[in-house]
Amino acid sequence: MSLDLDKRQRAMLREMGVRLWQPPPAAGLAPVADAIHTVAVGARPTRAEDRFDTETAPVRAPAPAATPAGRPVPAQAPVSRLAPGLQPRPSGVELMDWPALQAAVTGCRACALCESRKNTVFGIGPTAADGAAPQVDWLIVGEAPGENEDLAGEPFVGQAGKLLDNMLLAMGLQRGSDDTTPRAGVSRNVFITNVLKCRPPANRNPDPAEVAQCEPYLKRQVELLQPKMILALGKFAAQSLLQDSVPELQKIPLGKLRGQVFHYLGVPVVVSYHPAYLLRSLGDKAKAWDDLCLAMSVAPTVVRSA
Ligand code: URA
Repeated sequence: MSLDLDKRQRAMLREMGVRLWQPPPAAGLAPVADAIHTVAVGARPTRAEDRFDTETAPVRAPAPAATPAGRPVPAQAPVSRLAPGLQPRPSGVELMDWPALQAAVTGCRACALCESRKNTVFGIGPTAADGAAPQVDWLIVGEAPGENEDLAGEPFVGQAGKLLDNMLLAMGLQRGSDDTTPRAGVSRNVFITNVLKCRPPANRNPDPAEVAQCEPYLKRQVELLQPKMILALGKFAAQSLLQDSVPELQKIPLGKLRGQVFHYLGVPVVVSYHPAYLLRSLGDKAKAWDDLCLAMSVAPTVVRSA
């Protein structure tokens, strides 16, 4: 795919650590797919981002938890086996409107993460009138809040979030909230959320039972947002969104899910690396840009300013 990039988008790509190959003056325009990796801004990720070191490993469910006696328990713990003090997920999530869904997430006590969280992290995007879901073409799905996100109640606010913001800016998108000043020529046509709405303690991987409890919230978000494109960042987002459509998903390394267009509830899904992984694996940033280009080619409605 060939893209005309303006100065700002080129600057954003530089921030991502992606350098565009420039042909000799007479040779014509180079496709962005020829982007190559160069020395990156590469801020050292915080501990919150350590878990993405295994991004290239197969998309595998975490090992089943062990009982005190050492016996494995089923990976998908039945919802009825809640620890004391926890309650089932609110009923009727599948019928909720946006404000009701937000309230349900805020009050959710359906898994033990509610005990340690400071805030739930529903997601961030433009505000719509009358409590409707935001009108966005793009949905970005990450894994789970880390420490910064738990404190802020907003997804992707740490180092990985800065990289994500630069990736979005390179696409002409900016995370939206009413108190951010919009940049000229950039659209807030994007909602950012995670598979889990609460932080796993010590930034451990999400547990399958937690993912199962949270999954209806993400599903309802997609139904209400009706995005034109979903970007699944990292193996947990890919696993959550593609589990019903990709056979033997657990055996497929994340890198092999790239370069294809899947669907979730009829919405196209493109898989890419998690930004926290990219902070560590600078050589894969150019591949991430390829993924964004693929997604942009499928969802051409994105506003890319001239
Ligand atoms: N990583 C994620 O997957 N989501 C966040 O919100 C922050 C870091």
